[in-house]
Amino acid sequence: MYRTHTCGELRAEHIGTEISLSGWVKTVRKFGSITFVDLRDRYGITQLSFYEELTKQLDDNPLGREYVIQVKGKVIERENKNPDLPTGDVEIEVTSFEILNASSTPPFTIEDETDGGDELRMQYRYLDLRRDTNRKKLTLRYEISRALRNFMHEQGFLEIETPFLIKSTPEGARDFVVPSRMHENQFYALPQSPQLFKQLLMVGGYDKYYQMVKCFRDEDLRADRQPEFTQLDCEMSFVDQEDVLTLFEKLFKHILKETKGIEDAAPLQRMPFSEAMERFGNDKPDIRFGMELYTLPFGDGKASSGFNVFDQSELVVAIAAPGCAEYTRKQLDALTDWVRRPQIGMNGLIYIKCNADGSYKSSVDKFFNQEKLKAMAEQCNAKAGDIVFILCGKDTLTRKAMSELRLHMGDTLGMRNPEEFKALWITDFPLFEHDEENDHWVARHHPFTSPKPEHTAWLGDKDKYGDILANAYDLVLNGNEIGGGSIRIHKKDLQQQMFAALGMDEKEADEKFGFLLSAFEYGTPPHGGMAWGFDRLCSIIGGSESIRDFIAFPKNNAGRDVMLDAPAAIDAKQREELGLK
Ligand code: AMO
Repeated sequence: MYRTHTCGELRAEHIGTEISLSGWVKTVRKFGSITFVDLRDRYGITQLSFYEELTKQLDDNPLGREYVIQVKGKVIERENKNPDLPTGDVEIEVTSFEILNASSTPPFTIEDETDGGDELRMQYRYLDLRRDTNRKKLTLRYEISRALRNFMHEQGFLEIETPFLIKSTPEGARDFVVPSRMHENQFYALPQSPQLFKQLLMVGGYDKYYQMVKCFRDEDLRADRQPEFTQLDCEMSFVDQEDVLTLFEKLFKHILKETKGIEDAAPLQRMPFSEAMERFGNDKPDIRFGMELYTLPFGDGKASSGFNVFDQSELVVAIAAPGCAEYTRKQLDALTDWVRRPQIGMNGLIYIKCNADGSYKSSVDKFFNQEKLKAMAEQCNAKAGDIVFILCGKDTLTRKAMSELRLHMGDTLGMRNPEEFKALWITDFPLFEHDEENDHWVARHHPFTSPKPEHTAWLGDKDKYGDILANAYDLVLNGNEIGGGSIRIHKKDLQQQMFAALGMDEKEADEKFGFLLSAFEYGTPPHGGMAWGFDRLCSIIGGSESIRDFIAFPKNNAGRDVMLDAPAAIDAKQREELGLK
């Protein structure tokens, strides 16, 4: 028997018990004839003490960091108790030990605060996983998954698997493809999501489907994106948007309760896309704090403000940063440089300080008297002690830049508490987006999303495409899109119209989606659903920016697995078998 207990289990009540433990050597400290070893496993750390004879035995068989050992001994009361460890009241007086496996010196310290850099830790990910911080993250991931699966089961959903070797499903990214050996020059695509299969399951009569499923997308990576990631994917028949939102709001609250002990989460706000863009400049607003955007009545052909820069802008937009009227020149210069970075792309930043004495000090004093500055400050609800920041320029770019500045100020002012969880629904998305580069319309969500019934007729009029709203919704948590979905098109003629609007002729639509159009001829029920980004959900609930931390074996920012060194070339024989040049 390797162990009677784990390294996190022993307490004062075990004193006097003969036990055996197995685990990894965390530290070895020798004081003359006594040696203390901290033994670690997934459950915790227990102090071992090797007295006299046992310490002599250690001299012949020295232990190093990360050696795997088994010890037998007796639980005794610890002289210097350690209140920071659950096992800190006891230690093990070792009577015998065995080295089960030696270890090379690890390339970094296996502690919460490690000295290993990102890439090194990814290369030795199995060692990194021994660190307590990672153990906690993967445990949280499991707990969220368990809460979620229990909930779906209780609600009567069936978990059904769908294939990975498929034909392309359009979700806005590029496909990863897999060459077929048996069908030379033909390729499978890995699913970007199980979208079409779950719709076909609805045709099959499985009215409540869900799946925890891997999805694959070849797209530019960011902290919240991995080339392979996990979705909680779900679809239901005979539902409208309200049914979907109600169910998933329940699920969200269930997860907060089960994993964070939050019992009384408020009902989720619902905000149309247009309102989110107006108030936050963003379709995934972080509503943990205010600092909303206000459009000032200048530019875009309005009456002259007397300030050329405003008059020539499409949009003049402002926020009021609370308590920042005392900002120094240096701080303002740093913020100006921040908005001028290419990622933000603004020419400059205008400010109005709302001084405590009721006066105003601004970078555009020359153009606006005190009364006008006051009017602008009041338009964005600024109070004495606040500073108003103004950006102006092209509409979309400026709004996006102000949204970024708002988040930056939210971070700077400590208003984005990772322990606070504020979610909302964004609804009424536009059905289409105009692809300026190629001058055509693309589906904003995906081509299977239904237009609002009152806008369906506009599918025949290109000039109206920009105004068509969709039965689509996103779940946003702390400024991150954690899920999205829609009520689907379930009639063949409407689906054909949609394909046509996206520039697909009948032949192309048949080639790509003939199976779906054909299924729609055999009694397809009205249906809808959504998918959550499970890794994202875990990282936000775990209070971390990066989803990588919550994935056991993630890829790096360049999409590489540095441990396996993948992707990699394949040998000539394999290439030949696959018919690849
Ligand atoms: P969508 O494309 O919005 O919808 O994806 C759903 C959610 O998946 C997460 N996500 C990602 N997470 C990590 N890495 C990525 N590369 C990545 N891409 C997306 C996001 C997102 O909200 N089939 C539809 C859903 C539906 O209509 O039911 C779909 O996949 O959190």
